Amino acid sequence: MDYKSKLKQLTLREQANMLTGADRWHTAAVNHLGIPDIMVSDGPTGLRKEESLGKSITAVCYPSATAMAASWDKDLLTKVGETLAEECLANRLSVLLGPGINIKRSPLCGRNFEYYSEDPVLAGELAASYINGVQSRGVGTSLKHFAANSTEIKRMKADSIVDERALHEIYLKGFEIAVKKAQPWTIMAAYNKVNGNYCTQSKYLLTDTLRNDWGFEGLVVSDWSATHDRVAALKAGLDLEMPGSGYYNTSKIIAAYQRGELKDEVETSAGRVLDLVDKALPAMMKPKPSFSMPEHHDIAAEVASQCAVLLKNDGKVLPLKKDAKIAVIGARAKEPIVQGCGSAQINSFCVVSPMQAFENEGLQVTYAAGYDVKQPNYADGALLREAVSTAKNADVALVFVTSAPVDVAEGVDRKTMQLPESMNALVEAVAKENANTVVVLTTGSSVEIPWADKPAAILQTYLAGEGYGTALTNLLLGKVNPSGKLPESYPKSYKDTACPNYYQPDENRNLIYKDSIFVGYRYYEKAKTEVLYPFGYGLSYTTFDYSDLSITRERGSKVYTVSLKVTNTGDCAGAEVVQMYLGMAGQSLVYRAEKELKGFTKVYLEPGETKEVTFTFGREELQYWSMKLDKWVVETGTYTVSVGASSADIRLTEEVSIKSKDNLDAEYDWYEIAPHYFHADIAHVSDEEFYDVLGYDLRDYLPDRSDDRITKDSTIDDATATKSGRALNKGINYLCDKLPLPDGYGEMARETILGYPLSRFPSMTGGLVSDEAINGLVHLLNSDRPVEALQICARGIPSTVKNVVVPKVKSKLSQGK
Ligand code: BGC
Repeated sequence: MDYKSKLKQLTLREQANMLTGADRWHTAAVNHLGIPDIMVSDGPTGLRKEESLGKSITAVCYPSATAMAASWDKDLLTKVGETLAEECLANRLSVLLGPGINIKRSPLCGRNFEYYSEDPVLAGELAASYINGVQSRGVGTSLKHFAANSTEIKRMKADSIVDERALHEIYLKGFEIAVKKAQPWTIMAAYNKVNGNYCTQSKYLLTDTLRNDWGFEGLVVSDWSATHDRVAALKAGLDLEMPGSGYYNTSKIIAAYQRGELKDEVETSAGRVLDLVDKALPAMMKPKPSFSMPEHHDIAAEVASQCAVLLKNDGKVLPLKKDAKIAVIGARAKEPIVQGCGSAQINSFCVVSPMQAFENEGLQVTYAAGYDVKQPNYADGALLREAVSTAKNADVALVFVTSAPVDVAEGVDRKTMQLPESMNALVEAVAKENANTVVVLTTGSSVEIPWADKPAAILQTYLAGEGYGTALTNLLLGKVNPSGKLPESYPKSYKDTACPNYYQPDENRNLIYKDSIFVGYRYYEKAKTEVLYPFGYGLSYTTFDYSDLSITRERGSKVYTVSLKVTNTGDCAGAEVVQMYLGMAGQSLVYRAEKELKGFTKVYLEPGETKEVTFTFGREELQYWSMKLDKWVVETGTYTVSVGASSADIRLTEEVSIKSKDNLDAEYDWYEIAPHYFHADIAHVSDEEFYDVLGYDLRDYLPDRSDDRITKDSTIDDATATKSGRALNKGINYLCDKLPLPDGYGEMARETILGYPLSRFPSMTGGLVSDEAINGLVHLLNSDRPVEALQICARGIPSTVKNVVVPKVKSKLSQGK
């Protein structure tokens, strides 16, 4: 296809019009030139193609991103990508909105279930595999949410205050890997700000880094309604605003162009939209393929079985014997949670509950509910007693412990890292009664497990998608040997995390990333904080031996090859995830993590079988981001190459000495600037030390609080100083309480409505709410004068007609309707 060649035939208005969606899910078509629209849709672990507002098609629900990351299996992610692409083609979808690879900075992020890892290499490599899978079939992806979008609460305005080293090494690295290895067709700019700039308006992120440094060739799209100042965003490199804002922002672009404020930006970005159409059309022109939902359901179940992580298996209580008497305890065995809430939520084709799967398999089970799913934090004495007596008479007690829906939701964060009270009480009670208690843990991401020493076994399935029951049964019976490893650390308690007091936005909506590069295991290891389960950890029904580590480098080459042998020393087949970490052995000029993941591979072995595993590393793996030199550099010194079964289970280590030509004489004296970072003593990093690392003093940028007037940049939840502001807040809260929404969604709706800057309602509603209406609202919220406010709002009616009604009528007329 070559629609791009028609770019010059488009008028300014047509080009500007291409830069906003035609609606929530389509790009704009240009009918007289025969340029079609294309459709995009969530994603990314199944299709959420909307048929009508809020109602999506029936689709296969695959395991959540965290679950898939727990497989550590690049080929599996590619296969999922290819399978999803088939579904996209059959449904005429050209871009699947994912994968999401934000770093899990804290266990509290509500969207952690949608993200891969706390480690950028794991996240980036898996994302690249997924993207390559989808795109190999002629369907695009949207790598999201770019960038540093690791908190949900106040996400529309929160500002991630993060130093450039952490930004490049942790928060951007995964994106960089995925862009370089897979060239996603699109990348989605996030809602939040980074160091004072909205991501959608950040030239540093969207142009300097993404395009100029990494060579991104695709299109930048906004997260849905994340665009503030459309003209500033266009200048920064935001090509496409989604969803469409009608003529509202198009008119602003045209006016700015006519004022001479824009030059080639309009044409360049319109060209990128046409490029996207050109990429998408060949697959769409082919006859619509069909696929079998039941077959894809089976793939989803098979994938889920590769994602579970066996956390504990004392006395080899697992796998279960098929004739064992099993007490199934926990209502979630019948009403399972297989996915999280929000834009990733799939209208599942066929959810198989564990109970159903056990029955299909002909297992001997008894059942007790153990808790009420509607009251997860209430430990009901009668239900507990019933559970204990059911467990008493069984060979094995299988206890289902899951997150509450509100803890796995977009737009809100978890209030604590704890599991629901009723479930904690249940495990304690049942484990006391039955020594063969096996906990099936099904959460969105890491949780506190205060009872970890009580049951004989714990199997973490994560949110496993619609094949949950089948996958679980196969794992419990040993038809599939668990091979997942944790893509995130499990601290003993929330207070052990690197940023327990800095995760939530402060009163200025700043997210203070005082923890810098010390995220996840990088923090726990450096701070010498013991965790419950380390990053990369997971057991198997078999055992593996590591031997024969060697590190070689061919003469003249800058690349080192690491090779070793892995042997299955147990009596059943299984797969091992082998991990390679690099660290610096001696003293460094900069503070560093003890070690960092630089390579991983999953190897399948029959009993007694040995395979050779190889990794490579070179400059890319050795470098750090120098804030002084503003670039990646390699430091001369001795490095440790460690290979192991988890970050805490290193089996083989060697040292290599690296000579670098990079001149680091000018590097800052980090011992002087940032003494606490050398021990990851984040709790004692003062604001001043952090600002020194950050390179600017945040206090110089704090808003003037002497004036608490509401502006267009305020949100409704800012408006509590006046009577009308309080009334509006109360009204919205009341509505959110009363709305008949599924579990988890009420909170999400409340956060979204209360947390949107007022200035964004016009573009969000496609101009239906006019600028003047917002002026009126601002006036009302500041002054409690409803009549005047209404008069101001009424002035907006003409522009609503111009922006919304006229374009709609025109488009109907042009379609001959
Ligand atoms: C989410 C994105 C999603 C988009 C479209 C946004 O609220 O942050 O992840 O792709 O909506 O549904």
